[in-house]
Amino acid sequence: MIGFTYSSPTHIVFGTNTVSQVGTLMKPYAKKVLLHYGGGSVKRNGVYDTVVTSLKEAGIAIVELGGVVPNPRYSMVETGIELCKKEQPDAILAVGGGSVIDSAKAIAGGYYLEGEDLWEDYFVAHRKVTKALPLGVVLTIPAAGSETNSGTVITNDVTHYKMSMGANCLIPKFAIIDPSIHVSLSKYQTACGCADIIAHLLERYFTNTKRVDYTDRLLEASLQTVIYNLPRVLENPNDVDGRAELAWCGTLAHNGLLGKGREEDWASHGLQHELGAIYDINHGEGLAVMFPAWMKYVWKQDPKRFVQYATRVWGVQMAEHDEEAIVMEGIYRTEQFFKRCGLRTRLSEMDIDDTKFEEMAEKFVFCGKTGKFVKLTKEDAVEIYRLAQ
Ligand code: NZQ
Ligand code: ZN
Repeated sequence: MIGFTYSSPTHIVFGTNTVSQVGTLMKPYAKKVLLHYGGGSVKRNGVYDTVVTSLKEAGIAIVELGGVVPNPRYSMVETGIELCKKEQPDAILAVGGGSVIDSAKAIAGGYYLEGEDLWEDYFVAHRKVTKALPLGVVLTIPAAGSETNSGTVITNDVTHYKMSMGANCLIPKFAIIDPSIHVSLSKYQTACGCADIIAHLLERYFTNTKRVDYTDRLLEASLQTVIYNLPRVLENPNDVDGRAELAWCGTLAHNGLLGKGREEDWASHGLQHELGAIYDINHGEGLAVMFPAWMKYVWKQDPKRFVQYATRVWGVQMAEHDEEAIVMEGIYRTEQFFKRCGLRTRLSEMDIDDTKFEEMAEKFVFCGKTGKFVKLTKEDAVEIYRLAQ
């Protein structure tokens, strides 16, 4: 195990019917908030009304900015910063999934910058903002893990680069995780969110760090929790207990804890981000395409780790000498699971051909998430996109 520091300061309120606590939770931070949300699901499922009522009861004034799209755009971040400079809220409340939370984080971090370019100086140059508006979250979809971590991922709508920025001051002050508001998610969005959760676990699982048995087993238990509960929730969307399992797993999968003491990879996310930036596909479904392809390309780096994955996570039982067959069966079962949950697992199913493989591979290297388990080159990236066809 390697040494580490760990702190997860977000105050989490977890459970059914907790959204109405948002006013009380926000009160210490704000007399006026920017209420940030997406394309309207929060209005259709009643969450918006609960939030607005609770904020008003707490005496908090509201400035609204809705319309965040999946794969959130930098142009929306600029609009948000401008609005905040004009309206001077004390805090931001993100009501949504990873896209809304990430947009809110970027606005919160960009708000205090003077004479600097948030995109060029921070997202592209990987600098860290040191001051941000306080942020609260009402999480409407378990997926990205953004509700308790320091990262934000934004797509530049002009250059079509999807890039991330991280800073401790962006970590939400509080997050309400209420699984009863997740029942309005479509089967597709539920499955996409879970594919992202699985990917966050796998990015940590495939490591070169030795003697990490405790986190291996935490990751395996988390993977099995999603594998067990997702089909049940898809079968019965009102299974709030199952949704609670997925939600808690989704948060812990990406708040740093499960990767402590071990090197993490992140190349599959890098490969996916380029797909998302150009083709605007769902992040989770893109990972259901890229992760199996990545596994097929890199498994020889550490066959024993892939055998452990196949046997412990998927229960593959085969003759021990046939390492390759066990590894391939583990990868096959991963892909089949995504398929059974209604996701596409090949680029051809998304009508994506090889026209932009070179461009995506170049951007992949430029953005820097090229992997630690195996450090990938541009040529490797092209090969993995081909395996994903
Ligand atoms: O926009 P609305 O109408 O709200 O609809 C959303 C959206 O269409 C819908 N939805 C959310 N909650 C719902 C609901 N529909 C019905 N009922 C509900 N309760 O779901 C759709 C997807 O929402 P989105 O926020 O895009 O999903 P997700 O949480 O998967 O976020 C994806 C974004 O997060 C980034 C991804 O790259 C992507 O841009 N990530 C952020 C990370 C981070 N900050 O740490 C890490 C991740 O790896 C990821 O990169
Ligand atoms: Zn992800």
